[in-house]
Amino acid sequence: MLDDVLEGLSGRQKTLPSRLLYDARGSDLFEDITALPEYYPTRTETAILNAAAPDLSRRIGEGAVLVEYGAGASVKTRILLDALEALAGYVPIDVSDDMLAKTKPLLQQDYPELPIHPVVGNFLVPPPLPDIDPRARRVGFFPGSTIGNLDDADIETFLAGAAEELGPDGLLVLGVDLKKSPDILIPAYDDAQGVTADFNLNLLVRLNRELGADFDLDNFRHEARWNEAESRMEMHLVSLADQGVTICGKRFDFAAGETIHTENSRKFDPAQIERLLAASPWRVAENYRDASDLFSVLLLERR
Ligand code: AVJ
Repeated sequence: MLDDVLEGLSGRQKTLPSRLLYDARGSDLFEDITALPEYYPTRTETAILNAAAPDLSRRIGEGAVLVEYGAGASVKTRILLDALEALAGYVPIDVSDDMLAKTKPLLQQDYPELPIHPVVGNFLVPPPLPDIDPRARRVGFFPGSTIGNLDDADIETFLAGAAEELGPDGLLVLGVDLKKSPDILIPAYDDAQGVTADFNLNLLVRLNRELGADFDLDNFRHEARWNEAESRMEMHLVSLADQGVTICGKRFDFAAGETIHTENSRKFDPAQIERLLAASPWRVAENYRDASDLFSVLLLERR
């Protein structure tokens, strides 16, 4: 973590890895974001999944193992856990061990028969799966358009790794946020209640706590930007003054107005999705979407 932080802050455009947003507090704040009126992705994807559930259940069949990449609080997962028949297991993978530890007993209460095997890890490097029946069909679940936080190279790595791990009859249920007007996008990443701002700024709180950094929280503000050329929302932390910050004895200077780029959230168009899948071992078996074309849930099978 220290190496990644020092490297990110040493470039001309300062950056921090978006995965660091998800400590215990950050994971809770993200759950709050999903309930905001401006944040359309969660409720839209939830509606799509609810409508698609019977079809997904039919296509997936009985006795599968569900593997979720970046599981968080496993909220949308419950739609699949309710719909899929005789699941042989659920493997939530997440970088936040707090979140996994908090979620497991809650899930187990509602699904007492379901074997749950949480795995702490970064899904980009799919961690080895716990011992589950090798004959069970494996179904990956990567919702929330978390794929939009990755660049092309990481998407290629992830899709190849997931294919390897899920096997030749594996399936992948992939949530993809679609390109739309910045009038909808910007409020979704800069909400009126300031929850997204807290989520972004919490990254500095974390660095102060875990790395002994001395970021002055009053001297940075959250900014959400639409980058048309890259078709992505960006989160930045803007320095409000000329200032210096020290992390583990290393000093970093900020000019007033200079930013730390903390997250990309890509918004895909159909051609882009096509191109990314063409470079992967997957093809589209079904495309479920909402009536307003805000979001799409793809069922992928091996080509
Ligand atoms: C769940 C990681 C995809 O990029 O929309 C929400 C994270 N960042 N608001 C997204 C997020 C700011 C979210 N992901």
